[in-house]
Amino acid sequence: MARRKIIAGNWKMNMTPTEAVELIETLKPLVASDEVDVVFCVPAIDIIPAVAAVKGTNIAIGAENMYFEESGAYTGETSPKMLTEAGVKYVIIGHSERREYFAESDETVNKKVLKAFAHNLTPIVCCGESLTQREQGITIDWIRQQIKIAFLNVSADQAATAVIAYEPIWAIGTGKVATTEQAQEVCAAIRVCMAEIYDQATADAIRIQYGGSVTAASAAELFSQADIDGGLVGGASLKPDFGKIVNYK
Ligand code: PGA
Repeated sequence: MARRKIIAGNWKMNMTPTEAVELIETLKPLVASDEVDVVFCVPAIDIIPAVAAVKGTNIAIGAENMYFEESGAYTGETSPKMLTEAGVKYVIIGHSERREYFAESDETVNKKVLKAFAHNLTPIVCCGESLTQREQGITIDWIRQQIKIAFLNVSADQAATAVIAYEPIWAIGTGKVATTEQAQEVCAAIRVCMAEIYDQATADAIRIQYGGSVTAASAAELFSQADIDGGLVGGASLKPDFGKIVNYK
């Protein structure tokens, strides 16, 4: 069975609530599509107005982060139940910016992935190597380790519904997109790793995105690769160009 593509915008720390609604109104007609799943991952404070603004469209709203506890004394954090009640369907887990600036580890990523599944949120699990790791030739080993820890104790049924985003750190926000071959090679390796952890059917069901400086110019070639099932798009998701990325064919 062919996997349905999933194209997600990662707004990062951009857009006030008012700007968020304006951007959604601009993008709504441009991202209309029957063929791919479209997700806008927005800052926590934008979630409620964003969910209202996408009502009746093909756009799903995602969060950019979530905590792994149910509730309690965790100042500044957002719980899974807060997200689901607000109408969130997806949550980015373990983005490299969170790993770098907010001390997220493979272990906290795993806790968050488990918690997301427990609340029927689809995690977009991020992995990716630094430029040094790529130059040292340890990219695949590194990614396999990130993935194996992220999916510890996740069942095959849950894993089959997951989205994994391969985002080489050196390609994020740099304008330096990975070559199609580099992106496909790692996405294929991630699928092999999932088949080893689970089985081929589970691995074949998982959607694997590429992320890192995706633009309307690079989307079509990237998304036509055998193991690339869409993209996680930062900068270009804030512009009308995102419509071209969604309708890349
Ligand atoms: P970028 O960001 O498209 O701006 O490189 C991608 C991401 O960090 O998800």
